[in-house]
Amino acid sequence: MTRFTVAIDGPAAAGKGTISKAVAAHFGFAHLDTGLLYRAVGAKTLAGADPIAAARSLTPADMQGNLRTPDVAQAASKVAVIAEVRAALVDFQRNFAARDGGAVLDGRDIGTVICPDADVKLFVTASAEVRAERRFLELSAKDHEVSRGQVLADVIARDKRDSEREEAPLKPAVDAVIIDTSDLSIEDAVAQAIARINAAR
Ligand code: DC
Repeated sequence: MTRFTVAIDGPAAAGKGTISKAVAAHFGFAHLDTGLLYRAVGAKTLAGADPIAAARSLTPADMQGNLRTPDVAQAASKVAVIAEVRAALVDFQRNFAARDGGAVLDGRDIGTVICPDADVKLFVTASAEVRAERRFLELSAKDHEVSRGQVLADVIARDKRDSEREEAPLKPAVDAVIIDTSDLSIEDAVAQAIARINAAR
């Protein structure tokens, strides 16, 4: 097989990462979590770097380390509004999408901006409350001292910033299939995604 691109977008903690990993494993596709690119830029910015310079000089090493913290998530969402930051990350994502053997990219603007010609576009979402509860359980399991209220407020703030920005706002592509995971098990959500991809192959 040559190229086959699956674009998976959606708000924070909707289940994109879990679905993307499962889909990539099922079909033997490569997977890129594009949020990590913005998290890496966010982390560098928290450490004092200029966000645009950080995005332009990003290396794979910058993607290592603990980028899954609430502070880095908010910093990522803030640098993601900057057009020059987004522009610096486009080629890497498009090259990844075009690799032989198939690729799954998950993020906010994959189906709309990065890969508008993706073979399959999924928009994975869930209510803010369900997403906040999932994120709360995830962070608590990693010993982060967080309250449910704070996590919900963070999720809502990030949704608002990600959807209201001018550059590549979070929104479903017109041809995206919406998967609402609020009342779905992981297995059912993954099965729906796999069924959509099988239908397009
Ligand atoms: O998917 P994530 O939670 O790791 O993403 C962190 C932030 O990065 C998110 O709040 C907005 C930004 N982001 C983006 O603007 N575009 C993407 N394709 C992926 C992430």
